[in-house]
Amino acid sequence: MNILLTGASGFIGRHLAAELTAAGHCITPVCRSQGLDFRRMLSVADWLPHLEGVDAVINSVGIIGESGTQRFNVLHTLAPCALFRACAQSGIRRVLQISALGADELAFSAYHLSKQAADDCLRRLDLDWFVLRPSLIYGPGGKSAGLLMRLAALPVIPVIGNGQQALQPVHISDVVATVMQSLTSPHTKQTLDIVGAEILSFADWLQTMRQAQRLPRARTIHIPFRVAMAIVRLGRYFNPLLQPDNLRMLQSGYRADFRPLAQFLGRAPLSAKPKLFFSEVVPTRGAS
Ligand SMILES: NC(=O)c1ccc[n+]([C@@H]2O[C@H](COP(=O)([O-])OP(=O)(O)OC[C@H]3O[C@@H](n4cnc5c(N)ncnc54)[C@H](OP(=O)(O)O)[C@@H]3O)[C@@H](O)[C@H]2O)c1
Repeated sequence: MNILLTGASGFIGRHLAAELTAAGHCITPVCRSQGLDFRRMLSVADWLPHLEGVDAVINSVGIIGESGTQRFNVLHTLAPCALFRACAQSGIRRVLQISALGADELAFSAYHLSKQAADDCLRRLDLDWFVLRPSLIYGPGGKSAGLLMRLAALPVIPVIGNGQQALQPVHISDVVATVMQSLTSPHTKQTLDIVGAEILSFADWLQTMRQAQRLPRARTIHIPFRVAMAIVRLGRYFNPLLQPDNLRMLQSGYRADFRPLAQFLGRAPLSAKPKLFFSEVVPTRGAS
């Protein structure tokens, strides 16, 4: 297939591009480094010339925090909606949207609400769509996973409040496998939560990340939520991942039933084993 892959230079996009190419697909990458900026792709007409000869579209552009003119509304909603409508107009039926776990009726953050608006726009179109909602993804090259890895390696691990926030991390190869399956599955018009098999507390997840780095368990220091929020408000000037809303989302905790994903993949999602943190294993190509 000829596949237009947006966000091709990102964490998810790079893994997808590698697997799609290995499977014999031809990729048209879209990202700023390839000369296409979502901030200038806000109408159907902007997209149409880029869709000639394309069989399927995967949208994996996203930001975790706003900065300058990189705004949620533009990157997560306006440009993707224009792209989806352009697909409908060009007769491209298979469209996959990488959304995020929590982009649902309970969403409160600008991040989730902007994702949900694009998801809804896609769902309203008569296309063979998939809305894929990954939870926190781990594996080589992830920005948020990298930040948590560094946090986990500190001699004493800081956790927010009691550290019992629920996480259901998923390995990048399960995200890739779900995308690959969505490209050909006849069971279209699906919203799938891409979550790992286990629910862990934030504190346990950081200890697992220590284990992956061959470090012994560490003591945790409990930072009250209000103090953590004050630190994050300062930290956002140094790291775009440090945003008050991201802390609120972490505090809310996100979990989902993994059985629909397991049914779709024909196997359970991977369990978080230490070796997977640095592994690119992709089960669709037969690795176990
Ligand atoms: N990583 C996770 O744990 C996770 C979990 C759930 C959902 N998601 C969602 O999955 C998507 C991808 O995440 P990721 O981790 O792969 O993010 P990432 O590594 O930060 O990659 C973001 C991609 O978006 C592109 N991009 C950013 N601004 C752009 C613009 N103005 N125009 C065109 N392209 C632009 C970047 O390319 P350039 O910088 O080259 O333009 C890059 O290819 C996001 O929507 C994210 O919300 C991620």
